[in-house]
Amino acid sequence: MTRKKPEDLRSARWFAPDDLRSFGHRSRMNQMGYDVAEFAGKPVIGIVNTWSDFAQCHAHFKQRVEDVKRGVLQAGGFPVELPAISVSESTVKPTSMLYRNFLAMETEEIIRSQPVDGVVLMGGCDKTTPGLILGATSAGVPAIFMPAGPMLRGNWRGKVLGSGSDAWKYWDERRAGNIDAKAWNEMQEGIARSYGVCMTMGTAATMTGITDAIGMSLPGSSSIPAADSTHLRMAAACGRRIVEMVWDDLTPTKIMTRQAFHNGIVVAMAMGCSTNAVIHLIAMARRAGHDISLDDFDAASRKVPVIANIRPSGDKYLMEDFYYAGGMLGLMSRLREWLDLTQINAAGETWEQSLAGAQVYDDDVIRTPENAIYKEGALAVLRGNISPNGCVIKPSAAAAKFQRHSGPALVYDSYEEMKKNIDRDDLDVTEDTVLILRNAGPLGGPGMPEWGMLPIPKKLVKQGVRDMVRISDARMSGTSYGACILHVSPESFVGGPLALVRTGDIIDLDIPNRTLNMRVSDEELAARKAAWKKPEVKYERGYGWMFSRHIAQAEHGCDFDFLQTDFGGPVPEPAI
Ligand code: FES
Ligand code: MG
Repeated sequence: MTRKKPEDLRSARWFAPDDLRSFGHRSRMNQMGYDVAEFAGKPVIGIVNTWSDFAQCHAHFKQRVEDVKRGVLQAGGFPVELPAISVSESTVKPTSMLYRNFLAMETEEIIRSQPVDGVVLMGGCDKTTPGLILGATSAGVPAIFMPAGPMLRGNWRGKVLGSGSDAWKYWDERRAGNIDAKAWNEMQEGIARSYGVCMTMGTAATMTGITDAIGMSLPGSSSIPAADSTHLRMAAACGRRIVEMVWDDLTPTKIMTRQAFHNGIVVAMAMGCSTNAVIHLIAMARRAGHDISLDDFDAASRKVPVIANIRPSGDKYLMEDFYYAGGMLGLMSRLREWLDLTQINAAGETWEQSLAGAQVYDDDVIRTPENAIYKEGALAVLRGNISPNGCVIKPSAAAAKFQRHSGPALVYDSYEEMKKNIDRDDLDVTEDTVLILRNAGPLGGPGMPEWGMLPIPKKLVKQGVRDMVRISDARMSGTSYGACILHVSPESFVGGPLALVRTGDIIDLDIPNRTLNMRVSDEELAARKAAWKKPEVKYERGYGWMFSRHIAQAEHGCDFDFLQTDFGGPVPEPAI
C-alpha cells in the first residue's frame, strides 16, 4: 500500500498554496487560536457528530467526541468537530426515516465543501448509522464509524426491560386492564436507564452490527455498551486509526465490496435483524456501487440460522449480555462457513486476522448453529398479487402458526382511521382477520413510518390474542414483533395493488413458499385499478416537497434518485 505524503492531502489544497485564498484559510485558522504547524501537513479529521439535546441515545457524544479528538491528536492528525442533524428515533416526527437522506446529504456536503482528509462518523440511533455511511461513501474520503453503543438493560420491579419490545408488550397488558398507572409510570422510568442506543436487537443494534461486519468500524466495536469504559477507549482508538487510514487512503469503497455487504447480510440474519436492515443495506450497497437486492436477503435467510438470542427474536437477553458473551467477534467466529474472511475492515486487517482468538463465553446468548434459536428465515421476502415487487416478514419474531394463514382483510386507508376504530367493541374482527394499513409507504407516509406493527384490536387483546397477520407498506421498529408483513411494494400511494384490497377479500399467506396473495381475479383488480384515484401529495413545499418527488421505493433502499451513485456524473472537487 502506498502511503500518502503531506502534500497529497486533500486539506493541503486549502492550506498549502502561497496565494490569496489560502492566506484567508490559514488566517481564519489562526483566528481560532491554532498555529499553522498544528494543522498544516497533517490529516485533518472531520468528526461528524450527531449530538443534540434531543438525541437521547447520543447524549454521551458531547464528552465522547473529546476522546476521539484525543486519539486523532495522539496519531498526529488535526481534529475538527462537524455537527450534523441528530435524527433521534424516539423524538423526530412524523418519522426519522424522512430525515435519513437529509443526514446523508448533509454528511456528504460538509465533507466535500471543507478541508477534510478523513472522517470519524459518530452515530448509532437507528437512521443515523445508514445516513452517515451513505454520505461518507459518496464523499469518498476515508471514514470510520464510531458506534454509540447500547444502553444498559432496563429494569422494573426486578424484571429486565428491553427497549421498544417491552413497551409494546406491556402496552397491550395496559390496554387489557392488567397494569395500573403506577406500574406503567415505573416502567417509563426504568426502561431507558443510561445513554446509548436501544439495547434490544432493534434497528440501532442491527445497523451498527451490520456496519461493523461490513468493515466500517473497529472490529467488534458495535457491541461495546455505551456506559462501559471500553467505549471511551474505543472512541480514542477510532481517532488514532482514522489518521492511519488517511495516510493509507483506505476509502469506504475499498472496504465496502460486494462480498463485504454479503458478510453484512449473513451477520444480519444471524442476529435476527430488524426488518429495516433490508432498506438501509440496499441503499448503502448501491452507493458503494453494488446491486444488492431483496433476493440476496432471502437467499441468505434460507441458509443462515438465527444464533443471537437477543430480544425480540430471542426470548431473554439484551445487547449488554451479547457483549459479555463475546459480542460481534464471538458471533462472527461462529459464522465462518458463510462469511468471506478475506475481506478487510477499518482496522486494515482481514476478518481472518480480526477473528483470531475470538470466542463465545455464553452458549445460551450466542448459540451454536446446531442449537440455533431459529434454524432459518430471520427474514423472508414474499411476492404475489399484493406485492409484485416484494415485501418482507420476520418469521423469527412471529407466532409459529402464521407460517401459513388465510383470512379476511380488514382495511384501513390511514393511520388516523385505524387508530379511531381499532379499539371499538363492535369491531367485526377475529384472530383470523388480516389487518391492512395502506398509504404508509415512502411517499404515502411520507417517509414510511414505523406503523407496521398495527395494534391488536382491544376486543381481541381482552380475549388473550397477542399476534395477528398484519400487512402494510410501512416499516416497523426493529424492536417490534409479530406476524407483520412490511414494505409492500409498489406502495399503495402510487397505485400498487395494496391500494385495491377491500375489506372482506381473502388473503393467503404462505411463508415457506414465499407468497402473499389476495383471492381477487386479475379482471376484478383491473376494474378496481381503473376506479382508483391517486391521493394528494402531503407536502407542497420545502424538504418534504423534494422528498415526495425523489424518494425510491423500499426494494431500492429509499434513496433519493439524484443521490444514487449512477445518477448523472461524478461531482468535481471544489475549485480553489
Ligand atoms: Fe435511539 Fe432506539 S431510540 S436507538
Ligand atoms: Mg427503532
